[in-house]
Amino acid sequence: MMKHIPVLLDAVMDVIGDINGANVLDATFGAGGYTRAFLAAGANVTAFDRDPNVMVDVNAIKQEYGNRFNFIPQPFSHMSELSDTFDAIVFDLGISSMQIDTPERGFSFRADAPLDMRMSVDGPTVYDMFGKWTVDDIAKILREFGDIKPSGAIARAIKDTMPKTTFELKDLIHNPRDIAPVFQALRIAVNDEMCELTRALDVVPGLLRSGGRCICVTFHSLEDRIVKNTFRRWTSVNGDPHMPTTEDAKFNLLKTRTPTNQEIMDNSRARSAHMRGVIKLC
Ligand SMILES: C[S@@+](CC[C@H](N)C(=O)[O-])C[C@H]1O[C@@H](n2cnc3c(N)ncnc32)[C@H](O)[C@@H]1O
Repeated sequence: MMKHIPVLLDAVMDVIGDINGANVLDATFGAGGYTRAFLAAGANVTAFDRDPNVMVDVNAIKQEYGNRFNFIPQPFSHMSELSDTFDAIVFDLGISSMQIDTPERGFSFRADAPLDMRMSVDGPTVYDMFGKWTVDDIAKILREFGDIKPSGAIARAIKDTMPKTTFELKDLIHNPRDIAPVFQALRIAVNDEMCELTRALDVVPGLLRSGGRCICVTFHSLEDRIVKNTFRRWTSVNGDPHMPTTEDAKFNLLKTRTPTNQEIMDNSRARSAHMRGVIKLC
C-alpha cells in the first residue's frame, strides 16, 4: 500500500506560524502527517477522523506524545461540540492514500471491489444508496459533484442494472474521461462531504482565539469554492447578512498557496491542491 505523503505540509507550517505551546485542531488526521508536524513544533493537538482505520497511527502518536495529543473518532462537524478554543484549525480535505489504495474500500476504479466508498465504516454504502436514490437524485449528484454531462444516461443505467462492484459501475460509463468524476461524485455524496465542510466552517470562527488561523487544503473546485466563499464572507469589511451567526469576528485573508512543480513530481496527489487561510483579528 502506498504511504500517505502529506500535501502542502511545508506551506501549512509556514502559514501556521509559531505554534510552540499553542492549541491546534487537526480536522482530518489521516495518517497523522500534519498532526506529527504540529506536535514536533511544540503544539498540543486535538484531531478528528471518521475512519477507524487510522487508529494504528493514532495509538503510535499517543504513545509518543501522551496528553499533548487528543483524538476524536468522529466526523469533524462534531467540532461544534468542543468547549476548547484553538490557535489554529486545519483541514486537509478529501481521502487519504490509504483509503484510495485499499481496494476493498471501493474508492478506486482500478481494482474490482464492492461499491462501498464510506470513509467511516458505518452508514449506507454507495451500493445501498443506489437502492434509495432516484434516477433524478443520481443525475443531480453526478452533475453537481462530478460535472458529468451525460448524467441522466449514467443515472438511468445505474438504476437499471444496480452495479454492485467498482468494475460493474465502470462498465456502465462509456467515456473513459467520465470514470474518475463519477467515482468522485458518488464518494462526495455518500460521505456528505460538502455539508460536513460547511457545518464545520460555520463553527470555526467561534472556536478560534484572537490571532488564530484557519487553514484549508482542498483538492477539487467544489470544496475550494466553499472555502473561498466562506473566507470572503469572514473577511468582508462591511459584513454580510449571510455570515455565520456564531461569530462577529473580523478576519484577514492569508496568501493562497499551491504545490511547487517539485512537490507535484514527488507526489502526484498534490497536483490539484490549493491551500487557503485566514487569521482572526479580534
Ligand atoms: C487527505 S487525508 C488527511 C491526511 C493528513 N493531513 C496527513 O498528513 O496524514 C483526509 C482524512 O480526512 C478524513 N476525513 C475526511 N472528511 C472527514 C470528515 N468530515 N470528518 C472526519 N474525518 C474526515 C478522511 O477519513 C482522511 O483520513
